[in-house]
Amino acid sequence: MKSFDKRPINLKKPRRDGRLITVGRVEDLPEGRGATVELMDGTELALYNVGGRFYAVENFCPHKGAPLADGFLHGRIVECCLHGWRFDVGTGQCLTRPGCDIETYEVVIEDGVIKIRL
Ligand code: FES
Repeated sequence: MKSFDKRPINLKKPRRDGRLITVGRVEDLPEGRGATVELMDGTELALYNVGGRFYAVENFCPHKGAPLADGFLHGRIVECCLHGWRFDVGTGQCLTRPGCDIETYEVVIEDGVIKIRL
């Protein structure tokens, strides 16, 4: 049966393999900001500093594919820079449209170093 789901596919989503990768130091990302984390294989994630806690999600809005690292952060909620869909970066829940959640990734801080588990 033909699918009529027109949502874009995130071709830059990292493969989940349990690796813990080092992405930077805590002082590299100021509070209230997001950043794109580019991995060696060309995939990427969005990383956020929310009041000193770090969160990582896929860097892809399920609406039209905008990079969520460029979104506007309001506490733990990121608002997509293109059309304003909103996501909780802690849970991945889409607050705009049910069923459009994004993937989250575990962030580990060790001695001031930020690591993300793929
Ligand atoms: S691309 Fe994110 S809300 Fe449209």
